[in-house]
Amino acid sequence: MSTFLRSMNRKFAPIVVDCQPFWRPGLLNGITRLPYDGYFGAGLAEIERFERMAGDPSGGIDPVAAIIVETVQGEGGLNVASTEWLIGLADAAKRLGALLIVDEIQTGCGRTGPFFSFERAGLQPDIVCLAKSIGGYGLPMSLLLLQPEHDVWSPGEHNGTFRGNSLAFVTAAAALDLWTNDFVAGVERRSLLLADWGRSMSVRYPDRLSAMGIGMMRGLEFAQSAEAAHVAECAARDRIVIECCGPRDEVLKIMAPLNIELDLFSSALERLGRTIDAVFESKKSPSAFRAK
Ligand SMILES: Cc1ncc(COP(=O)(O)O)c(C=O)c1O
Repeated sequence: MSTFLRSMNRKFAPIVVDCQPFWRPGLLNGITRLPYDGYFGAGLAEIERFERMAGDPSGGIDPVAAIIVETVQGEGGLNVASTEWLIGLADAAKRLGALLIVDEIQTGCGRTGPFFSFERAGLQPDIVCLAKSIGGYGLPMSLLLLQPEHDVWSPGEHNGTFRGNSLAFVTAAAALDLWTNDFVAGVERRSLLLADWGRSMSVRYPDRLSAMGIGMMRGLEFAQSAEAAHVAECAARDRIVIECCGPRDEVLKIMAPLNIELDLFSSALERLGRTIDAVFESKKSPSAFRAK
């Protein structure tokens, strides 16, 4: 689900919004959630309905201050919004006079291919959130990018105990220097490897696995969520750190470093494939699978 904010104080715009159930109580009051692209067939018609309701004094939705969206859902299961849907959403925001906030906390800094994931749809968001994507290159940090016309902060106004860690600024700035044509081409090679692997696994198990994601943010959706968890557990024993995402943790999520050595990446994917084979085999005859 993407998350739509309403009645938001423009001066103190929210920095990060997550729609995982854990965060809903207390933190996410005064918002309206709309189905993400593809959810039960939702598409542009859903955006049109939302816009109509938001513009109708009796529509049941207060005037919209901002729309926040991930172009690829990180925790939500690696769902990739279509460019048409993203453009439709950005256009609706403009017509409603709402800010467009793109959450690039997982998708930013080359994870989906271009530096920002919204470049795929040619969007020009008002606000962009970066955190894991930029912090993962160097030291932990989070960052909010604002179009100049929305930057109403006075110097030193956005302060706090852990904000503005100088060392993280230095490492993040150094990491940005890595963003060269060669680096981008390397990310592309790794994403193709990952895409091929995901496709081959879903072809091998068409009823049990679906390939999800884009770029270096891909994974496999398991028809049985317990099997995804089992694979992640066995992979950890095989020294492959992997997590699950999606509403029922049914998606095995592969977020390898963007510069992982190709040989290492390829052999890790092979090992992961064998682990999946073994887990599926064990479901047929439980004694056939012995975790190492
Ligand atoms: C896409 C996305 N947005 C927002 C957040 C929240 O980020 P933070 O932990 O920096 O508040 C997360 C955290 O997992 C996330 O993955």
